[in-house]
Amino acid sequence: NNHKDNSRGGLIVLEGLDRSGKTSQSSRLLSHLEGQGLSVESWRFPDRTTCVGNMISSYLTNNSQLDDRTVHLLFSANRWEKRSLMESKLRSGTTLIVDRYSYSGVAFSSAKGLDIDWCKAPEAGLLAPDLVVYLDIPPEKAAERGGYGGERYEQLEFQKKVSQYYNVLCDPTWKIIDACLPVDVVEKQLKEFVMNSIAICQKGKPLSQLWS
Ligand code: TYD
Repeated sequence: NNHKDNSRGGLIVLEGLDRSGKTSQSSRLLSHLEGQGLSVESWRFPDRTTCVGNMISSYLTNNSQLDDRTVHLLFSANRWEKRSLMESKLRSGTTLIVDRYSYSGVAFSSAKGLDIDWCKAPEAGLLAPDLVVYLDIPPEKAAERGGYGGERYEQLEFQKKVSQYYNVLCDPTWKIIDACLPVDVVEKQLKEFVMNSIAICQKGKPLSQLWS
């Protein structure tokens, strides 16, 4: 039947400040979904394994200097180079849990002072997520968690600006989870949002594009 033909995986995006817990929640979620017998992969941006990703990584670790607009476009290119694989995975029924996406791209670059519309432009036409979950943590709390690895953006004053731009980008479809709650509670809330979203995608929700 029709439904089966259009059945696909969900594009699930986790966003939040550095140290908001995205990475550990992604791996918990991955295990849970695998345990349910679902086809699922965990992705992250930047994807440091590609050539573009290598340039980004070297910039983030302060091993190279790049102009702000150049870096912004590299982050965007890093998503574009994965777009077709992303689409084929989703269409073949695989759910993708993606740690950071275009919203990170826009929030971090805008926080440096770049115009927000300029930042959004190169993201238009990438696949739109089926679900964006924002792990909400006050920048001060995130800083207290420690483990800022000394990468370029891991500084309180900068993270405060990033959080303001996430606020600007946030729309009513986003699911916000209080990232200061115990990890198990965050995990439980996250699972519920994700299972609902996957169910809708399995029923044949069409893929759509971001900001275009
Ligand atoms: P990430 O690899 O998630 O950080 P971590 O080293 O903590 O695992 O992301 C690295 C940094 O890059 C992070 O501070 C957010 C920033 N970033 C951008 O500035 N633009 C982007 O498009 C993305 C995806 C991340």
